Amino acid sequence: MIKAGIIGLGFMGKMHFNCYKAMKNVKIAAICDIDESKFNKTDGIAGNISGAEKPLDLAGINLYANFEEMLANEKLDVLSVTLPTYLHCEHTIKSLKAGINTFCEKPMAMTIKECQKMADAAKKSRKLLQIGHCIRFWPEYAKVKEIIDSGKYGKVMSATFQRLSLTPTWSWNNWLLQKEKSGGAALDLHIHDSDYVQYLFGMPKEVFSQGAKGPSGDYDHVVTSFLYNDGKAVTAEGGWIAKPGFGFEMSFNIMLEKATISFDCTRNPVFKIAADKGKIIIPKVAPGDGYSIELAHFIKAVNGKSVPDIINPQDSLNSVKIILAEKKSCDTLRKVSLK
Ligand SMILES: NC(=O)c1ccc[n+]([C@@H]2O[C@H](COP(=O)([O-])OP(=O)(O)OC[C@H]3O[C@@H](n4cnc5c(N)ncnc54)[C@H](O)[C@@H]3O)[C@@H](O)[C@H]2O)c1
Repeated sequence: MIKAGIIGLGFMGKMHFNCYKAMKNVKIAAICDIDESKFNKTDGIAGNISGAEKPLDLAGINLYANFEEMLANEKLDVLSVTLPTYLHCEHTIKSLKAGINTFCEKPMAMTIKECQKMADAAKKSRKLLQIGHCIRFWPEYAKVKEIIDSGKYGKVMSATFQRLSLTPTWSWNNWLLQKEKSGGAALDLHIHDSDYVQYLFGMPKEVFSQGAKGPSGDYDHVVTSFLYNDGKAVTAEGGWIAKPGFGFEMSFNIMLEKATISFDCTRNPVFKIAADKGKIIIPKVAPGDGYSIELAHFIKAVNGKSVPDIINPQDSLNSVKIILAEKKSCDTLRKVSLK
């Protein structure tokens, strides 16, 4: 039985709780949250993608307000770091140094320097470090990766991704809307698509972005072109400046030589392939969502089972690098090189 801990019982901590609870080989042994009121009221935590609204049963779980105390008292096999982004580096490194396989939410950290320290700490500890780039595991997105890699429909000519949200007003102490704590929507939200672009096509040669500064004081809406040597047109738009009635939308349209693949979480069917001669295919995808699948992947790896190389610390660092280049491009209105 894997003994799991969680630090940060907010929206994502609760999501991780539910994912671990559903696994037969995992027992949640301990939870830490600096705000102990989180242990008394565990329902109604908001976020873009639902699934964490029901109250949690914390019976039999050791609860801590102090991380060092939790590390000293518990023998954990894995820890989920579901803290605000500005706390990822410090707590992930402490967890790895304590010999715990660590799953840290995305984005990896605020700066490349912090990301590098985390990657180095993982190497030194010989423990696993996985960053929560859940879109790589999201059933439809995972299917698209498989389809593109198979070459079945030829080369990608163009791909465009969108991730649009109302302004998040639900975070602990409003950390999401403080640029020095979240990095704005570019680092917090749009990184999902920049990371997925990297997953599909590798590191872009350059990025060109335009953006709008919003309530966080940083870029809260970004439109980016990812430039590749083969000339395919790859763009992504992401942000959280939509008005409250808008809700949340994630979508993509991918033009291949022999098919058009599209996904829109607000549409029915959400996912389809338009192939030659008007044929419409609704591809079968894995059950579940990216959160449960990425955590199952992590636990499988912790158990010593072989898993495909879907995400590693270097990729996660590179995604932060892409976002920082996008922000620089927004500032300068020039292409920024990623070489
Ligand atoms: N993968 C995804 O799709 C996804 C979605 C949402 C959030 N996230 C990421 O998850 C992380 C957490 O976001 P969230 O929305 O859950 O935030 P949140 O504000 O809902 O929760 C943060 C929690 O951390 C606790 N906390 C703060 N400082 C602490 C400390 N020093 N020690 C212990 N607990 C502390 C707070 O009390 C709060 O309960 C962020 O990095 C965010 O970017 C990922």
